[in-house]
Amino acid sequence: MFERVCETDDVWEGELISFDVASRKIILINVDEQFRAYDSQCPHQEQSLCDGKLEGSVLTCPAHLWEFDVMSGQGVNPTGCKLRGYALKIENDDVYVDVEQPI
Ligand code: FES
Repeated sequence: MFERVCETDDVWEGELISFDVASRKIILINVDEQFRAYDSQCPHQEQSLCDGKLEGSVLTCPAHLWEFDVMSGQGVNPTGCKLRGYALKIENDDVYVDVEQPI
């Protein structure tokens, strides 16, 4: 079920912000006005990505510096891993995420 998370203006271009959605912590990312939602836990050792560094479309986990392409969620370094993404939609400048729909 989609839940309203915030307005599109709450996450600026190039920003990563964490939110609690249905008892899960997620990160919401805006790259070139395209929004993506991912679980806040890194697929490596489940450390938090909330303080990850976002450069362009590459997110670096602060724990052991694994890198991910946030447009696809795929691991860049190393490859062969993937962020857990969630379905997202925008309606009337509101961002909705469904944490029960992994993508
Ligand atoms: S927990 Fe993210 S790189 Fe290790």
